[in-house]
Amino acid sequence: MATLKLLLLPGDGIGPEVMAEVKRLIGWMNKHGMERFETEEGLVGGCCYDAHKVAITDDTMAKARAADAVIFGAVGGPKWDSVPYDARPEAGLLRLRKDLGLFANIRPAICYPALAESSSLKRDVVDGLDIIILRELTGGVYFGEPKTITDLGNGQKRAIDTQVYDTYEIERISRVAFELARKRRNKVTSMEKRNVMKTGVLWNEVVTQVHAREFKDVTLEHQLADAGGMQLVRWPKQFDVIVTDNLFGDMLSDVAAMLTGSLGMLPSASLGEVDPKTRKRKALYEPVHGSAPDIAGTGAANPIAMIASFAMALRYSFGLGNEADLIDQAIAAALARGLRTADIKSEGTTLVGTTQMGEAIIAELEKLAA
Ligand SMILES: NC(=O)c1ccc[n+]([C@@H]2O[C@H](COP(=O)([O-])OP(=O)(O)OC[C@H]3O[C@@H](n4cnc5c(N)ncnc54)[C@H](O)[C@@H]3O)[C@@H](O)[C@H]2O)c1
Repeated sequence: MATLKLLLLPGDGIGPEVMAEVKRLIGWMNKHGMERFETEEGLVGGCCYDAHKVAITDDTMAKARAADAVIFGAVGGPKWDSVPYDARPEAGLLRLRKDLGLFANIRPAICYPALAESSSLKRDVVDGLDIIILRELTGGVYFGEPKTITDLGNGQKRAIDTQVYDTYEIERISRVAFELARKRRNKVTSMEKRNVMKTGVLWNEVVTQVHAREFKDVTLEHQLADAGGMQLVRWPKQFDVIVTDNLFGDMLSDVAAMLTGSLGMLPSASLGEVDPKTRKRKALYEPVHGSAPDIAGTGAANPIAMIASFAMALRYSFGLGNEADLIDQAIAAALARGLRTADIKSEGTTLVGTTQMGEAIIAELEKLAA
């Protein structure tokens, strides 16, 4: 059995609290001989600023490059609101994304049956929902040049952002989408605005070509991103994998997030290119939520998003789909037993803290693995 090297970056606020439950899970998996994980830890965000005056050190970056996967908690908090811009806590995450070339952001929107009532939509619309929003993460309008605000001298200013996509950027994100779909329900929906944007025209053309050349067995459908947003709240179960650019992906993934009820439930993965020599790809796994300073230190944080992010690492970095399925089933079983952290509490359920939820998930895992 090969040793799998993980770099754990707990970060700030509730980051270390939810990461503790992932460590418990790793310990359990190592003990049961399911896999052999070797872990290292590093500082990122505000805690790294306090120690080193930067949001992430070169030494930690070297460890991130050497690791098979990076497991990230959350960063930030009011304590660091006035630190220099380049050293702000989020700069650590942005450097990881940039230096590791993490261009593909995978955000599943899964609605556990036990939580269907927490969604703002009707139960039958979201119950059992399991879709993925795949967002291009390193290109598009957030990074395109020119990006300026110019004083026009007549009391007016002009702001410019530039949406840019090259063929290779669309090709590689499309491939990730089709490969994901092949392991799921075999359907990709590509979203852009080809009716008003040139980047939308190219996006549509390139996705169509990659499909025709390499992935004919997968069903491909195109929707305009605005209509797609509407469909996402009308009948989200029509989708399997949605692939879209950085800007639309930012918005659509937040819309999809709300379908499932709570921020504390949502995992994510960011993947880089496959290295042609090692066949491995750089990857970072993190919950969608932030450091939740309002509840940090109270032991109330929901660890499910963090644990589900680790399950994504098993699935996407290590090909351990069965083990990832087991963890997802253990989460569903703990919820079905009526256990709830405060953020997902409803009438008639039992309130538990971070540690109890982590322990309950392992107890369910224990039963499932037996
Ligand atoms: N990737 C990241 O590290 C990341 C992402 C978003 C925000 N942030 C940072 O986190 C800090 C707080 O930001 P925010 O309040 O806008 O967002 P947040 O996600 O930290 O919190 C939003 C709300 O959701 C609750 N919440 C979040 N995660 C939870 C969990 N696991 N269990 C229970 N409740 C949970 C919080 O208590 C809060 O009420 C800021 O400094 C922000 O910059 C970091």
